[in-house]
Order: sequence, then C-alpha cells, then structure tokens
Amino acid sequence: MTQLRGDGHVHLADYAAPAWRIPHAELQFELDPDATVVSARLCLSPDPAQPGQPLELDGEGLELLDITLDGQPLAPGRYDYDGRRLVVHGLSGDCELATRVRIHPAGNTRLEGLYRSGDLLLTQCEAQGFRRITFMADRPDVMPRWRIVLRANRDAFPVLLANGNPLASQDLGDGRHEASWENPHPTPAYLFAIAAGPLERVSRRLQTAEGRDVEINIWAEPSDVARCQYALGAVERALRWDEQRFGRCYDLDVFNVVAAQDFTMGAMENKGLNIFNARYILADESTATDADFLAIESVVAHEYLHNWSGNRVTLRDWFQLSLKEGLTVFRDTEFSSDLHSRALKRIEVVRLLRGRQFAEDAGALAHPVRPDRYKEISNFYTLTIYEKGAEIIRVLHTLVGEDAFRAGMDRYFADNDGKAATLEDFIAAHAAASGRDLTQFARWYAQAGTPEVSVSADFDGASGDYTLTIDQNTPPTPGQQHKQPLVIPLRYRLFDADGTSVTQAPESDAVVRDGLVELTAARHVLRWRGLEDKPLPAFNQGFGAPVKLVFDQGVDELARLVRFETDSFNRWDLLQRLATEALLARPQAEAATGALSDALAGLLTDAQADPAFVAECLVLPDFDTLAEQLDEVDVQALVARREELLDRLAEDQVGRLQVRYEALADAAREGLSGRAMSARALRNACLAWLTRLDPEARLAQAQFDAGGTMTERIAALRCLLHFQAPGADAALAGFRDAHAGDPLVTDKWVALVATRPHPDALGDVQSLMATPWWKPANPNRVRALVGSFARSNPLAFHRLDGAGYQLVADQVAALDAVSPQVAARLLGAFESWRRWAEPLRARARAALAPLDGRLASPDARDLLERLLD
Ligand code: BES
Ligand code: ZN
Repeated sequence: MTQLRGDGHVHLADYAAPAWRIPHAELQFELDPDATVVSARLCLSPDPAQPGQPLELDGEGLELLDITLDGQPLAPGRYDYDGRRLVVHGLSGDCELATRVRIHPAGNTRLEGLYRSGDLLLTQCEAQGFRRITFMADRPDVMPRWRIVLRANRDAFPVLLANGNPLASQDLGDGRHEASWENPHPTPAYLFAIAAGPLERVSRRLQTAEGRDVEINIWAEPSDVARCQYALGAVERALRWDEQRFGRCYDLDVFNVVAAQDFTMGAMENKGLNIFNARYILADESTATDADFLAIESVVAHEYLHNWSGNRVTLRDWFQLSLKEGLTVFRDTEFSSDLHSRALKRIEVVRLLRGRQFAEDAGALAHPVRPDRYKEISNFYTLTIYEKGAEIIRVLHTLVGEDAFRAGMDRYFADNDGKAATLEDFIAAHAAASGRDLTQFARWYAQAGTPEVSVSADFDGASGDYTLTIDQNTPPTPGQQHKQPLVIPLRYRLFDADGTSVTQAPESDAVVRDGLVELTAARHVLRWRGLEDKPLPAFNQGFGAPVKLVFDQGVDELARLVRFETDSFNRWDLLQRLATEALLARPQAEAATGALSDALAGLLTDAQADPAFVAECLVLPDFDTLAEQLDEVDVQALVARREELLDRLAEDQVGRLQVRYEALADAAREGLSGRAMSARALRNACLAWLTRLDPEARLAQAQFDAGGTMTERIAALRCLLHFQAPGADAALAGFRDAHAGDPLVTDKWVALVATRPHPDALGDVQSLMATPWWKPANPNRVRALVGSFARSNPLAFHRLDGAGYQLVADQVAALDAVSPQVAARLLGAFESWRRWAEPLRARARAALAPLDGRLASPDARDLLERLLD
C-alpha cells in the first residue's frame, strides 16, 4: 500500500509492486441516498515474487457489515480495520474476499466517492475516492476486470449506469429494478464510476474504423438534455480525430457521458462512463458564449482521449500523473489546433503558461512535473503537471519530428496496453522509435522551475563575424538548489536589413538544423562569418519550449521584427513583448508604446488578418504575466500602469476601432460559424477599448440592449459593470432576472461582479454571500464568486487593508470542512505572496498564519504548510 515515511510524505523511491493482485472484482450496489449498501467480491491472487504478505486494502470511513473469505465468515482475529485500512492476515494462494459495507451518499459533501447531486447519485474516484465506496487496493497498478450490479427504486432512479458494456437489466418486483454492467478491460479503481437517477439522453450511433458499432450517449437531468447536442458532436469529432491522427479506436459498445451540477473538477474520464461538470457539457446559443463552446469541445476531447492515454495505458503510481495528464493535454491541444486555428490555440496556451504556470514554478508551490514526494496527491493536479507536462511532450515532438513521434506513440501504446506504465516506459518507447538518446530529455520531468535562456549578441563590423552566446539556467525551487542543463530546442532566425532571412548556417558546438538549435549545455555559441551587415535576430518562434527568453532587444529592433514576421503567433508574441516593454521598462516605455500603437493600427486596418487574431493582439499581457516578471510586485502601481497604457492605446486607435466594430456587425450575426465567432471576438475587443473613452458606455449599452448571442451580451455587460456605466445596475438586474433559473449563466454574471476592477468589489462579493444564491457546497458557485475574486481581481484581492486576503482565508477555513479539495485549491491564490510588496506581504501572512490550527483536512493543511514554509 501507499507507504508513508516518517516525514509524512509518500516517496516515489519507496514504490513497491502490490503483493496481491485483483484480476476480477464484482460489486453490487443497493442504491439509496441516505444509506447505500455495497457488496464486493474481490478475486485475489498473490504476487509469486512476494508470498506470505498480509492483504492490505484501503477503505475510508466504511461501516463494515460482513466479511467472508471463500464463502466463510472471517473470524474477528483474522482482520483489522482502523477506519482507513483493512488488513487480513494468514491468506495464502488464490482466494476470494467478500465484504458488505454501508455508506451515506447524501451526507457526502466532499464530492469524492459516491455522492448525491440533485436527484442523481454519482461517483468521483480519482485519485483516491474509491476507498470511500468499498474496500479495495486503491492504487492505479491494481487493475481488475469488473462486473457491476446496480439496484434501486425505479421511480427515483430510472437510469442506472456503470463502466463498460450493459449486460442485462430486470425488474425486481417491489418497485425496484436492477442493471448489470461489464467492463472487460483491466481498469484501476480510480476509473470506476456509476451514475443513477432520472437521466435523459441525446444519442448517436457510429461505427469505428475497426468496425465496432458504438452508441454515444450524453445524459443529463431532463431540464438540461436539450443543451447536450453540441457535446455529442464533440465526442464524435474527438473519436474520429484519435482514429486519424493516432490510429486509436474506441473499445466498448457504448460511450456514456453524464452532466452533473455538482462536481469538483471539470470532468473525469471513467472507463466508458465519463462524468462532467455540467458547465463543460450544456450549451446553446442563448446560454453559452463562443468561448464556452470551444472549452466544451476541448474538455470533451480531453476526457475522450484519455481512453488511450490514461485508461488503456494507465499509471503505475500517482507520481506518473503527467504521463496521462500532460500527454492528454498535448493530445487535446493538437485536436483543437487541427480543427480550428493553430495560432489562436497556441496563443491561449502560452498565455496560460506565462501567466499561471510560470508563477507556479517560481512560487512556494513549485514542484517537478514528476514530483518525488507528496503528502496529498489531490494537490498535484496543477498547471505544472498539466500544461508544463504537455509542453515537455511538445519538446519531444520537436526533437524527433512528427513521424518518429507517431511511431513512438504507437510503440508506447502497443508495449503498455492493459498495463500500468511509468514515464520511463514512455521515454523508452520514444527512444526506441526515434533512435535518439533521451536521457537528458528526461531531466525535464525531474527539475522544477522555469529555465531562463539568455542570449547575448556580438557583431564585429570589420570581419562581419556575428556571435550569439546562449546560456541556460534554471533557478532554485523549494528543495532543489542546483539544476542541470536541459535539452531545449530553441528556434532562431536572422534577418538582414530588408527583412530576408540569412540562410548561412552558423558554426556551433551545438546541434543546429533549419533554424533550430538544440541547447544541451549551460552555454553554446553560434557563429556566422563574413556577414555584410549586423543582422536582426529573433528567438523562440512558436514558443518551442517552456522557457523564459532573456535578450535585451531595443524597441526599434522589435518594431522591425513585427514588420518582417509573417507567422501569426510570432507576431502576437512580439506585440506582447512590446507591450511588456511599455509596461515594465521605464526608459524604453514611450518608444515601445509608440511602436505598439503603430503595429496595432496596421493590424486593425489589415483586411487579410483573421479578426479573432487581431482581437488577441488587443489583449495586453495580463496582470499575472507581468507580475511574474517582477521581483517585487507593487500591485496597485502595476494595475494602474496597465490601465494607463490601455487608455492611451484606445485613444490612438479610436477611429479604427469604431470602423471595425461597425463593419463586422453583419458577420457577427452568422451563428456559430468560425467567421461569426471571429467577428464577435474582434467586435468585443473593440467594444472594451471604446468603452474606456465613453463614460456613458453608449455602445456597450446598445450591444447589451440588442440582445444577440450570449457572447455579445456578456461582453457588453462586462463593459457596463467594469467601467461603472450609468446603466450597469439596471443591466445587471435585467440579466440576472432573465437567467435566474440557470445556475451556469448566473455564475457568469457573478464572476463579472467578483472581478470588477475596484477594491469595493469585495463588498459586492460579501453581499452575494448573504443571498440564497450562495451555496458553498457547490464548487461552481465557489469558483464563480471566490475563485474569480482571488485569481482575477488584483485590485480587490490585494486590497491594501488586507480585507481581500482575509475574505479568501475565511472562505478556505469555512470550506475546509465541506469540500477540502476546493478549499485547498483556493489557497493556491497565495502561491506568490512572498513577492508582493509591503504592506501586502505582511497582510498576506496575517491572513494565512492564523489558518494554522483552523484547517482540519490534510489537503488544505499540506498547501498551507508549503505556503508558509
Ligand atoms: N482526470 C482529470 C480529472 C481529475 C482531476 C480527477 C483531479 C481528480 C482530480 C481529468 O481528465 C482532467 O484533467 N480534467 C480537467 C479538465 C481538462 C480539460 C484539463 C479538469 O477537471 O480540470
Ligand atoms: Zn485529464
């Protein structure tokens, strides 16, 4: 079982294979919200290499009713159960253990294990929730084949779903009925799921490339089922894409998805029975924004794609988490890039990395993509495991190329199918397929912190020799003082005076090919000889590795690069750099502002540019991205500078903004087409800038009043609220009443209120907590109100009086008893507190320190300890 060392941590180095295997499990549920009885029969088989070991099973807070071994009641002396672990002594050889336990779904507010959500009964088992359902070796390397029988009152629970294929169903007479399911694939307990209740569905049949007939169903409560069509289409798109791009087919007769109003996370990939937060399923044009549609498609794809990267090939232990999550994020990102705009997807990902993952990697909670120890695994579902993990796969893809990458993936799936794998298995498959030594590549998994790549350039006018010296350095992180060099594929390009690329290949001690240098040592030198003029260099095109580039480049050079660069992502990135100079670099600020303004003027009048891309260029680096680049963050000053720059740019562009806003009106009305979404994106970006110049916010008011799509209404409402327009209160009330019955839409306006850029937003948040809307047991409500306040409202969260920190700390303390994982996640908002300028740092400490002693859950305690360490 999971071994704890004296330091209270589980260590990767302590991994031991299970002493008992469980080739088969059969579960029977007598479902009832108040008291459900679970009967389990586990077929046990000792590992021949470890004979004579006691059987240890996990079981958290279970009421044990019966226990038998091979059909005989087990004498009390043969087993111990301490409320967490069941130990059975004196077993030898294959045998069958049967237990009966009682659990209480309606009282389960943690939303782990079996719980009630409205009229439904649902499960969430990853990472360690199964042990709250029945006794089991709750570790991913124990993978039974399963049979599941569900019994319940037919009126209350007309639909009974479980993993795998349906076997049979029957009426039991007394108002009850029964359904049996079989999951023939070896599956760890964390992928177990059931769902029961008055569910309705939308459904589609298709045939896989291998010829299997599959029924896809999306299930929801009756009032929601009309909004499931889009998600159904997304499942089909993901299924086809995995066939085409990775050659992976679906492997059961049904693929069921259930939408739940109460769910801690976004969604869960249980084998054959995905369970989703309703916000990532339900959508129609009147309640979902364009961003919601794209997010739904991407989350649906993510969970579907886990069927191979996670389920067919699962994890040996939780230290390997990024093996499924990083890889699946890489896969879902490729899916979205293939279906829509690759450049826009890259912009979205890079914003997330620079704004949030870099901060995580530089803060108190920094950890390697493969941690070597943990206290609470639920605290490791982080941007580092997910997003940095995906970037590392992308580095591998760049190093070996698409064909070898695909061959490596084929080999990984073939070698590990039905098994519990490690990152070493993944790397070995790719090394074998590509013929490349990936020893150094593996360091990416072991070292925390964002590497800095610093470049210095030297041009000798007499000889025409041009030298680039490239250093890499990864800063220290908690528990890791010294880092070794990583393999970093760094793109570069040299332009001559008229913007053509210098084609001469450089001499170098590094491997260099087609504009890409593979950095492997702490320092490399690239040298060109006999150039006529000093070239203009550019680096890290496409953001080819999760690194920070440090290169002192003048604004005039950046401005020239913007003109020469043709790739959309790279142009966007250059504009972000100009904006960063304008915001953070005092001496260059004015020049950078001018250059940025010129570039934006060009983009706004460029009829060829995708309007959605232009919209992205109007979005300056966000607060987090800027703060991350400062050693000490004066929050108020940083926000003020950003607002000033936005005001100034808006004034410069006002005419062009008006023209684009008007001109795109017709295209914006074309439903869900890419063209219409793109038009709405740019119109909304223009609207946000134009509203800065208009205290009456007439345009925003008009867009709000015109109705239109949710994308347009919510963007207009944001402008009205955030610029405190005269019509803000009336608009908010109108919107609120129009959507009062829809919790997901209500979350949207609540988030707008919680992110109003003003210290007084704190009072609005407190007021909302005093209304009947506030249900702290529902994670979506918490995220909409407290999560967006803490993560996306710098002026209110970082109030100088510390009241913002106090509000969040109080919520953490209150939530800790209700939903510990949600409480722990909120604490993450403090990850960078040591860099906040006084008096904020002292205020943060004053809010955090008293939590010690107020937190009962190991989840939140683990985070608090690491924050204060
Ligand atoms: N396996 C996770 C869900 C999960 C996360 C379970 C944490 C238990 C603890 C799932 O595949 C996932 O990654 N979901 C993400 C959304 C995804 C699109 C990145 C989530 O829930 O946030
Ligand atoms: Zn996932």
